[in-house]
Amino acid sequence: MSSYPYSRPRRLRRTEFFRRMVAESQLTPADLIYPMFVLEGKNRSESVPSMPGVERLSIDLLLRQAEQLLALGIPSIALFPVIPSDLKNDAASEAYNNDGLAQKTIRALKETFPELGVMSDVALDPFTSHGQDGLIDDDGYVLNDATIEVLERQALSHAQAGADILGPSDMMDGRIGVLRETLETEGHHNTCIMSYAAKYASSYYGPFRDAVGSANNLKGGNKRSYQMDPANSEEALREIAMDIDEGADMVMVKPGMPYLDVVQRCKAEFGVPTFAYQVSGEYAMHHAAFANGWLEKDAVILESLLAFKRAGADGILTYFAKDAAELLADN
Ligand code: PBG
Repeated sequence: MSSYPYSRPRRLRRTEFFRRMVAESQLTPADLIYPMFVLEGKNRSESVPSMPGVERLSIDLLLRQAEQLLALGIPSIALFPVIPSDLKNDAASEAYNNDGLAQKTIRALKETFPELGVMSDVALDPFTSHGQDGLIDDDGYVLNDATIEVLERQALSHAQAGADILGPSDMMDGRIGVLRETLETEGHHNTCIMSYAAKYASSYYGPFRDAVGSANNLKGGNKRSYQMDPANSEEALREIAMDIDEGADMVMVKPGMPYLDVVQRCKAEFGVPTFAYQVSGEYAMHHAAFANGWLEKDAVILESLLAFKRAGADGILTYFAKDAAELLADN
């Protein structure tokens, strides 16, 4: 009488062909959205110290990168403008300048590479002198409805410039419905909205704020009166339900790796196109470990991204997009 197991899960792990046959999730370049920082000027690039390998680029250099991304099979980029401080004010008026940096970049990208998806960020933090995502009152409180009026103008100017996807990252209540209504009224029926539906007041955004230059001037020091409390996930589902109801085509959970439970619940509950943002702090901490030789770079990049797919994400915004697509092409 044998006491050996009949069921041996290891049988299907023995060779690469078995492992490939039974893999439940897959990572492809089509899953990746590459966030990019754009600067005024020509032939300019600046590195971001807390984000090794990430550069702020002027439009001409950004277009050259865009060509490489297309060749790698990356479907879309997410655009973040770096605004000089003399153009920032309390009204964030530069946000809806039709000839502003974001608007110019969107136009240049769509003229040169119409087949590359362009997602633009809808929020006021790059444009306010105080670094908050909206207009503030005398106490520094971010005003909801007054902010939405500015977001509307910003969103419309991005849609007119040709953005394929608007990414409202501001977390004001009700903004998705208002933006959808404005887009419909103005004839932009096919402009998509990927709402930052469950965006947490996270401490993992620090390097991004360095990259766009909103860290030093962030008045109030945090965004907890509008971004979500990291303690909550029931609330995330309510936020996501509201945004879907208001007309979001796709939803996002942000940050990424520490919030995979929210990604999974979102996908299971709503079944809508669900994205996760592997944010700047996640990128920075991975790089710190790579630089020290503590983690193996290539394998960890791919594993960190595959984890999002396993959790149910349809795609990932990640500063590793280019690295990952290159690795996937090599494999
Ligand atoms: C702001 C915005 C932030 C990010 C994207 N849009 C930062 C914030 O909310 O302060 C963070 C992205 C990252 O950390 O990579 N509207």
